[in-house]
Amino acid sequence: MASGDWKETAFLAGAVLIFLTFDVTLVLFAMGWFKPKNHFPVDGRTVLVTGASQGMGRAAVKLLAQKGANVVIVSRNASKMEAVVEEMKRTAMKPQIQRFHYISADLAKNEESIRVVEEVTQWNNGEPPDIVWTIAGAAHPSLFIDVDAEVLREQMDTNYWTAAYLGHAILRSWLKPFSKLSESERKAAGNAPIPRQFIMTSSVAAFAGLAGYAPYAPTKAAMRCLADCLRSELNLYNGARRGTNSSVVATAPVADVKIRCVFPGCILSPGFENESRLKHPITKILEDADIQQTEEEAAKASIKELEGGAYFATTQIIGSAMRAGSLQGSPRNSLIVDTLFGWLANLLWLFIAPDMERKAWKYGKTHGVTKGEPGK
Ligand SMILES: *[C@@H]1O[C@H](CO)[C@@H](O)[C@H](O)[C@H]1NC(C)=O
Ligand SMILES: *[C@@H]1O[C@H](CO)[C@@H](O)[C@H](O)[C@H]1NC(C)=O
Ligand SMILES: *[C@@H]1O[C@H](CO)[C@@H](O)[C@H](O)[C@H]1NC(C)=O
Repeated sequence: MASGDWKETAFLAGAVLIFLTFDVTLVLFAMGWFKPKNHFPVDGRTVLVTGASQGMGRAAVKLLAQKGANVVIVSRNASKMEAVVEEMKRTAMKPQIQRFHYISADLAKNEESIRVVEEVTQWNNGEPPDIVWTIAGAAHPSLFIDVDAEVLREQMDTNYWTAAYLGHAILRSWLKPFSKLSESERKAAGNAPIPRQFIMTSSVAAFAGLAGYAPYAPTKAAMRCLADCLRSELNLYNGARRGTNSSVVATAPVADVKIRCVFPGCILSPGFENESRLKHPITKILEDADIQQTEEEAAKASIKELEGGAYFATTQIIGSAMRAGSLQGSPRNSLIVDTLFGWLANLLWLFIAPDMERKAWKYGKTHGVTKGEPGK
């Protein structure tokens, strides 16, 4: 065989191989093999959302209704929630099947959170909700000593405790050991682990402390820390489910629980006008780079990130950079991207942090601490 023939054959074989690989890839693509997995499936599931009577919460539940979820919303104002339930009915993907409900409660009280979990479970035919997403919260920006100490406590109640109490109540329900379930509950559970998610809504304020956010940012930082602790703890339960020793398995719950946390930036919500009125000018100067998002944009971006599998879900590029730059021991969404992005963010902070210090110093020097108009 001449060497020319050999080369020609190899070339042909190579071409055929590439062509076949390409074709097979195309077919697999069409069959959905490479479709990214949806880590936030809500179709046919029951989702409990707090703070959904307005703002990002309301925008989020409308999207969840569009995606086929049964939704229960919780807030204090019943008349506002009635309107949101009507909106969800209008946007529902399968209006004949999907169910919507609201519960009026003050979630800053533990007993109210327990009641909410009980009521939702009853409404959901004895099954706890599949997903709980806490969005309730409000910011009271102010210089630290300008507000009464009572406001500091209220902020913790409104933001941290509304999430922590509900998390406590729902995790106690989800993590009940298999051996403690009634016969009917065991039957309903079946053999496959039930996927459940507890999602909190923190804020990018948790990643960087700025003048004027002392009453608010610590409540969101506490929430981030709670998410990390719970995520670590849940490994115990999720691991026990997969034990080979039957007495270990008996202590495991039927549910596989995932903990996640969302970090929106500035949202143009009804609360925003209030915030702006309270905000000290230096806060506005320092957060100048923050991108303002509408309620719908923030809700849509949050859900997209959750669907993509993010543990810490950010809703905009600056938020993502802040997240990557302050991960410390928190799990990464993506090992490579987060590491590279984190290095970049740490380099950027070398310039941004001193600039922030200078701006506050300069404001004090020219205006004092009073609420003057900046730049005048
Ligand atoms: C509930 O919201 C409605 C509509 O915004 C408002 O008129 C009403 O005063 C609110 N009720 C309470 C108890 O806050
Ligand atoms: C099974 O688990 C129980 C409870 O943790 C433990 O006491 C026992 O030694 C384990 N059995 C085996 C074979 O590991
Ligand atoms: C804005 O502030 C007023 C007065 O403090 C309060 O009654 C109202 O509920 C707040 N609005 C929002 C959307 O938080």
